[in-house]
Amino acid sequence: MLFAGPVTAQTDATQAVFDPMKALTEKGAVVSSGKDPMTALRMAEPTEEGAPAPNPEFGGLPDAPGAEETFYQCTACHSTEIIKQQRLTDGRWDELWKWMVDKQGMVEPDPETKVVILNYLKANQSSER
Ligand code: HEC
Repeated sequence: MLFAGPVTAQTDATQAVFDPMKALTEKGAVVSSGKDPMTALRMAEPTEEGAPAPNPEFGGLPDAPGAEETFYQCTACHSTEIIKQQRLTDGRWDELWKWMVDKQGMVEPDPETKVVILNYLKANQSSER
């Protein structure tokens, strides 16, 4: 259950009948349709006061130094959703990194990049701050 998003019941009577051509005739409708089950995943997540905004270029990861490195290192196997939903202690991020390498076969980047990514995760996806 990693990608379970909120399930919203369609209660709006005007949308009860699905017109497959509507998206093609309505200007801009193609971009985001309420019928698209992935919409919730693409939407920006609410950010806390002062937290960096999600960067859509890097899978919605918080826009801070290291976001790019983290994106390219970590999305080889799974989406950023799995990262964004995690709030781990600093120690747990270190352990998770090791687990990703030892058990999942993640190829480690050069040591500097590793530091950049772990600092990024600890700064932006930590349960400690
Ligand atoms: C070599 C493939 C691979 C790479 C690269 C990779 N992961 Fe993973 N990751 C996995 C697999 C496989 C899982 C387990 C998915 C599942 O639970 O079904 C996982 C799960 C996770 C989880 C969820 C752990 C949990 O307790 O549920 C997080 C968080 C995570 N990865 C973060 C990262 C981060 C951060 C990076 C980059 C530093 C990364 N992953 C890179 C393969 C990878």
